[in-house]
Amino acid sequence: MDSKLIVDPSHRISKIDPRMWGSFIEHLGRVVYGGIYQPGHPKSDENGFRLDVIEAIKKLNVPLIRYPGGNFVSGYNWEDGIGPKNDRPVRADFGWQSIETNQFGLHEFIEWSRKVGAEPDMAVNLGTRGIDAARNLVEYCNFEQHTYLSDLRRKNGAEEPFNIKLWSLGNEMDGDWQIGHKTASEYGRLAHETAKAMRKLDPSIELIATGSSLHDMPTFGTWEETVLDNCFEDVDYLSLHQYYGNEDNNLSEFLGKSEDFNNFINDVIAICDAVKARKHSSKQINLSFDEWNVWYHSKENDDKQELWQKSPQLLEDHYNYEDALLIGSLAITLMKYADRVKIAALAQLVNVIAPIMTDPVSGNVWLQSIFYPFMQVSNFGQGVALTPNTEVESYKCKDYEVPYSDSIAVYNEQRDEVVIFVENKSKQSMHFKVDIKNIHISKIVEATEFAGYDIKQTNEDGKMKLNTLSKIYISDAGIDAELKPLSWNMIRVVVD
Ligand code: AHR
Repeated sequence: MDSKLIVDPSHRISKIDPRMWGSFIEHLGRVVYGGIYQPGHPKSDENGFRLDVIEAIKKLNVPLIRYPGGNFVSGYNWEDGIGPKNDRPVRADFGWQSIETNQFGLHEFIEWSRKVGAEPDMAVNLGTRGIDAARNLVEYCNFEQHTYLSDLRRKNGAEEPFNIKLWSLGNEMDGDWQIGHKTASEYGRLAHETAKAMRKLDPSIELIATGSSLHDMPTFGTWEETVLDNCFEDVDYLSLHQYYGNEDNNLSEFLGKSEDFNNFINDVIAICDAVKARKHSSKQINLSFDEWNVWYHSKENDDKQELWQKSPQLLEDHYNYEDALLIGSLAITLMKYADRVKIAALAQLVNVIAPIMTDPVSGNVWLQSIFYPFMQVSNFGQGVALTPNTEVESYKCKDYEVPYSDSIAVYNEQRDEVVIFVENKSKQSMHFKVDIKNIHISKIVEATEFAGYDIKQTNEDGKMKLNTLSKIYISDAGIDAELKPLSWNMIRVVVD
């Protein structure tokens, strides 16, 4: 099979916002306790932060981390997580019906995220709480003047404001599983008023309004429209969440989910722009795809879990090779929308539907299959995304026509290189041709493949790795490569 990509730096989509490769830490299962925070573990520092986990996270170059939820945030009192640890209340977390000890809270998160080198995306509780708790949190975190709350922050050890720039206005408020679930107009009004109060304290902050929890939510479309009708002028981004599963064990359908992902983004852009047009506004609402991943392996087990445990093993999907292929393809789709998707978060980062796992028995870190494509896009999907002018055959799925390959080139002017990501979704090897226009490429810096694994293979034994893509040839006209069946590939070339 043949596939072709034309790479022309004059055909630009947009610079990829580095926050495209963000992730998510929720108080859920073993993300925090036993994941990033484990006092007494031999690899933890004096704060209880797992250094081996930090080391793995650093490989992912994660620039932004959403916190503290998720469903958790809709029942959370941020005040429970500040002050002396001995005085913090143990609470029933209604989001996950678990016990929350609050030993890790706001200050610990800020300190930890600085160690990781990531900015926070702080979510406020618009489920059980609202304007008051949100504005108090902004005052506590960002206020410079001496007030009761900013002085409380100082008393708790942070003289300087945290200066948190990005805030999420609640989580999945369209879902009836959410504590404090709302109608679109109830949420839209609340988002408007909360944003107003938060911005009064700090006009420099950026705000994300909650969009749909899934593309096929029954309220999809009207939710976005009504929410934006209410808070268009107050927010900068609208969120999207989407998880996929292969419950039917149908590989072609599963890999074809990237088309749904693509259409979801396209639909939300259309709605944002329709509201903009109706309002005669010049303001553009951008997208924050702040939960995306595969999630289904663990669901059966989760249904059997005993309730009200401390850090239970919840949502611990063990990802296989086909999951990694879907993640690669979804990442390419995100880059295709670099002009509108400015923020995204692979949900989540450690233990819970995550690329990084800590083994509860051995105490060791292991890396999931999805770690590899995500690591490559987060490190090298940086620069200007170029329009993916492609030629390839497609196959028919139930709802979509799916191209046998997904590809995109990113022009990194600082490094003088073009990086090409290409996935072969077919079961045959593929001759991949890259036509280079309007630039000259001279040599291959790196060419790797993630290939050859059984589609159901997982990586608890750490045997998965990126290999060299050896059948690759470069000439003045471009690149020719032989891609293995069902493979994820990355090619970096020097531009001179
Ligand atoms: O990421 C797991 C959960 O998925 C989050 O808490 C929620 O926002 C979504 O439904």
